[in-house]
Amino acid sequence: MKNILLIISLCFIAFSCETSKKEEIVKNEALVMYVPSEMALLMNEMYVFNEKTKEKIIKNEDLGEFSANFLNIHSAILTNPTDRNGEFEGFSQAFLLNQQAVFSEKITDKKEQFNVMINSCVACHKTTCVGPIPKIKKLLIP
Ligand code: HEC
Repeated sequence: MKNILLIISLCFIAFSCETSKKEEIVKNEALVMYVPSEMALLMNEMYVFNEKTKEKIIKNEDLGEFSANFLNIHSAILTNPTDRNGEFEGFSQAFLLNQQAVFSEKITDKKEQFNVMINSCVACHKTTCVGPIPKIKKLLIP
């Protein structure tokens, strides 16, 4: 029984941060137990939003607006609540400023600002959640 619990909790840890290959994991029975945290859901929303924003920048289309929902990064419940410390708040603030700047009329080089913003996702991830970094880096515009 102990072993089963250990395996389940290892899966849980693996799921929240150490892997980005969701499709594979969904097939794993143990993961029926996985419930993503508010923060994990928000992160996935940020990812999808920026995938679309990247496409728009590449195609030179209108970018629309900053998603105010991202401000929830300051309050969303984390899988590991102890991650939220002073450093984390600093990274959150830097990310939000960079994300907002992508939509600012004053910023003309959208591609450069977009990449700065993605690097601010990566900077925080280096300190808290290294698993998704390769996936996040794919958002960078070459
Ligand atoms: C302030 C720190 C911070 C910033 C900035 C940040 N992340 Fe995260 N990210 C985290 C943490 C912590 C988790 C783990 C969340 C959890 O499990 O509760 C996470 C999880 C994720 C996940 C995995 C979600 C899952 O299903 O488990 C993805 C993908 C992700 N982030 C992408 C991004 C992208 C894209 C950006 C920028 C647009 C970004 N992150 C910015 C800290 C950050």
